Amino acid sequence: MKILGIETSCDETAVCLIEAGGDFGPAFQYTVLGNALTSQAALHAQYGGVFPNLAKREHAKNLVPLLRTVLSAENTKTAEKVPLLSPPVADRIALLLQREPELLERIVPFLEGCKRPDIDAIAVTAGPGLEPALWVGINFAKALSDAWDIPLVAVNHMEGHIVMSMIRENSLSDVKFPVLALLISGGHTELVLSRKFQQYELLGQTRDDAAGEAFDKVARLLDLPYPGGPEISRLAGEAREKKIQADFTFTRPMMNEENFDFSFSGLKTAVRRVVEQRQMTDELKLQIAREFEDTVADALIYKTMRAVEETGAQTLVVGGGVSANEHIRGRLAQVLQEAGEPAQLLIPPPSLATDNALMIALAGYFRAEAKEFILPPDLKAEGNQKLA
Ligand code: KG4
Ligand code: ZN
Repeated sequence: MKILGIETSCDETAVCLIEAGGDFGPAFQYTVLGNALTSQAALHAQYGGVFPNLAKREHAKNLVPLLRTVLSAENTKTAEKVPLLSPPVADRIALLLQREPELLERIVPFLEGCKRPDIDAIAVTAGPGLEPALWVGINFAKALSDAWDIPLVAVNHMEGHIVMSMIRENSLSDVKFPVLALLISGGHTELVLSRKFQQYELLGQTRDDAAGEAFDKVARLLDLPYPGGPEISRLAGEAREKKIQADFTFTRPMMNEENFDFSFSGLKTAVRRVVEQRQMTDELKLQIAREFEDTVADALIYKTMRAVEETGAQTLVVGGGVSANEHIRGRLAQVLQEAGEPAQLLIPPPSLATDNALMIALAGYFRAEAKEFILPPDLKAEGNQKLA
């Protein structure tokens, strides 16, 4: 089965085409036929975070060129004459994309110059994420589905991160259930238990800021560019290398509470207090970055380990942009090993930990395999879509 994945939930515009086969398990295999991604991070940097309407417009501009790249090997080589869009289809697409003029003006010439590709399903992120951004991807998927008569699959972005973590090379790791998933991204910080593939129970989540959001907000306090995660991580690494340690400590949040919840807004306030009380120097930045990263790592690891022990999870999956963090990855592996936990740790390589369309195509494949197609009128952006 060939699946086209489309991701526009935040500030990455991404399109990916895979060919996949086999059920969830050892028989599963896939190949990437085309993969393209544009990050808008540099554009949003001036706002210190993602600016939804700018994200929407950029997605609308980027999607067609990305799809063209993804399909280039497949289709655009053809010298065959391609029929123009029939008037009813052209009218429906114009209506569908009336609020995305940048997309409409690119998609019509594209569809008129491109043969229908050999694709069995179009998988698109329906949520969670920024609704204006999600809608662009969804309307793009609907337009392609209409023009090419290809069924649609709605994908939950967090399920995409989970499935991505379970991939090893071009097949699946040997995933043993129950699976505990620690999902740490710019919008989410959750512990989710999965006793069966595609079934989820929410064990705990952040009461305020997400882990990635804390990295981004603290970066802003330190005058570092967006996204803050990689910047802080780089400074924290430098501090460890130079053996620079803070002469202050931040309270590890939520450690005394018997639940699986997190909280990072108090930590951000603690950082602000240090920034306001002291003269900023390069060395103080290094100290703050290291102590902050250590605090986030401790908070995440403490609750995750408790959840592993209490649920008897056989597999710990870590997904979302913050799972690209080298320190958190290393500490988790070390703590699991030291605790003698049999749970195997699955984390995607850093390049696939942040948002991409491969994860949407993969999660979409398993939903398509289960015949979970969605009719266009039912496909809507759900900014707060839950896994459970
Ligand atoms: O999953 P993702 O790409 O987008 C969302 O779905 O939110 O996650 C983006 C978040 C940002 O907050 C970014 O600062 C954070 O992941 N991030 C990191 C690292 N790389 C990205 N946080 C800590 N360390 C990193 N190396
Ligand atoms: Zn994400």
